[in-house]
Amino acid sequence: MASLGLVGIIVLVVLGVVLPALQVLAQFNPELGMEQAKAVATATGGPDVKLFNVLDFGAKADGTTPSAINFIRAFKEACNHPGKAMMVIPEGEFVLGSALFSGPCSNAPPLMVSFSGTLLPQANTQTAEDADWLTFQSIDGLILSGKGTLNGQGEKTWKPECDSCPRAPASLKLIKVNNTIISGINSVNAKGFHLMISVSDNMWIDGVNISAPAESPNTDGIHMSKSNKVKITNCRIGTGDDCVSIIHGSTNISVENVDCGPGHGISVGSLGHYDSEADVFGITVRNCTLRNTDNGARIKSYKNDNPSRAAGITYENIIMDHVKNPIIIDQEYGQVGSSESSKVSIEDVHFTNIKGTSVSKVAVDLLCSAANPCKGVTLTDIDLKFEGTEKANVPFSSNCTNIKVVYSGIQNPPPCPP
Ligand SMILES: *[C@@H]1O[C@H](CO)[C@@H](O)[C@H](O)[C@H]1NC(C)=O
Ligand SMILES: *[C@@H]1O[C@H](CO)[C@@H](O)[C@H](O)[C@H]1NC(C)=O
Ligand SMILES: *[C@@H]1O[C@H](CO)[C@@H](O)[C@H](O)[C@H]1NC(C)=O
Ligand SMILES: *[C@@H]1O[C@H](CO)[C@@H](O)[C@H](O)[C@H]1NC(C)=O
Ligand SMILES: *[C@@H]1O[C@H](CO)[C@@H](O)[C@H](O)[C@H]1NC(C)=O
Repeated sequence: MASLGLVGIIVLVVLGVVLPALQVLAQFNPELGMEQAKAVATATGGPDVKLFNVLDFGAKADGTTPSAINFIRAFKEACNHPGKAMMVIPEGEFVLGSALFSGPCSNAPPLMVSFSGTLLPQANTQTAEDADWLTFQSIDGLILSGKGTLNGQGEKTWKPECDSCPRAPASLKLIKVNNTIISGINSVNAKGFHLMISVSDNMWIDGVNISAPAESPNTDGIHMSKSNKVKITNCRIGTGDDCVSIIHGSTNISVENVDCGPGHGISVGSLGHYDSEADVFGITVRNCTLRNTDNGARIKSYKNDNPSRAAGITYENIIMDHVKNPIIIDQEYGQVGSSESSKVSIEDVHFTNIKGTSVSKVAVDLLCSAANPCKGVTLTDIDLKFEGTEKANVPFSSNCTNIKVVYSGIQNPPPCPP
């Protein structure tokens, strides 16, 4: 009786915590979703959650048997389950070709995916052009959580960078998914982007580890477009391209406590690449560290005729550790320019409390468009010092083109002449 009583109390406590959480999640509360993600990580979803383990659908954790179809079957059943559903990917190595996990789902949201194992791509499968590796699509309410690893084995397919080559497959693509939590998980050696987010609303990505070598081509860590309210926290990203890249149509994005390096920095852009790009606004990058990266806080646009606006961008409390181009706006990015100057207007941009070391002499490099000079750019408390081997015969300095910066507080390097 005594032990039953204890179990009873535990069950009550679990119910007491989990049930209200699930109810409130009908309106999606990210904090409660993140709580729930901890239980999802260990595949303990609560008493009324039905588990859909990929092994029960014929997937083999043997590191050789192609199992994408088995994963898709497990997903489909979870997605169509009339109650709370959790797809479970247990420990072990699974081999998967390209897989689409597509809703709409009729389970009680959110659909939970407990991810522990390691996924490897199927060798020698010709993926269709533009097909990514694992795609979640058209789902409202998704929690993907666990210590699992996506190993894209990009080292077998990486080719030198090339402007006209098709984009290599992203390891994990999220498209048209709303109200999503991604917690934990690891991505190594993606063939293309590690995580790619598009046409999605309300997503929180926490505690994700991303790694690929500095030389790996176009392996952006988290790349997003046409999405609103994406929050990225506590991630460790080292890769061969941008750690985070925020392109057209991204709004209300926050990046906090992210360590980046190696990589090309935390970037807004490239913008002005495609016709009719939607504006970018409400971007906050805060409390991040960049280490040995090729850029730090960067905004970049093509020298192109496609007009759009990027506004309300803040980089705050950033530590630069031996970064090349710690603070950079580059409106002459890329080779495909079709115009004399970029038609992207950059406004209301704030670089605040940025400290550390630069390996380039021109540590603040602001190159704006002649057609669209940058407006409302402030630099506050910038304290960088040169620590590098660059031999260029220029002082440690700032360079400003087509921009009038408003300075306050400490300025190292010294401001551009008025
Ligand atoms: C996601 O939210 C957007 C905007 O609220 C809505 O238009 C879209 O249909 C939603 N998508 C899904 C898959 O629920
Ligand atoms: C990410 O890396 C850190 C440091 O190596 C580790 O403590 C953490 O468990 C990793 N996260 C996951 C999801 O495996
Ligand atoms: C996004 O940001 C804009 C401007 O900051 C704000 O007006 C809008 O309500 C935000 N949208 C959401 C869904 O948070
Ligand atoms: C960010 O850093 C500041 C000071 O460096 C600190 O006061 C604040 O709590 C931090 N915020 C987060 C979300 O970690
Ligand atoms: C400053 O930027 C302009 C425009 O890109 C460039 O021509 C010039 O060489 C730069 N000056 C230094 C010192 O880098």
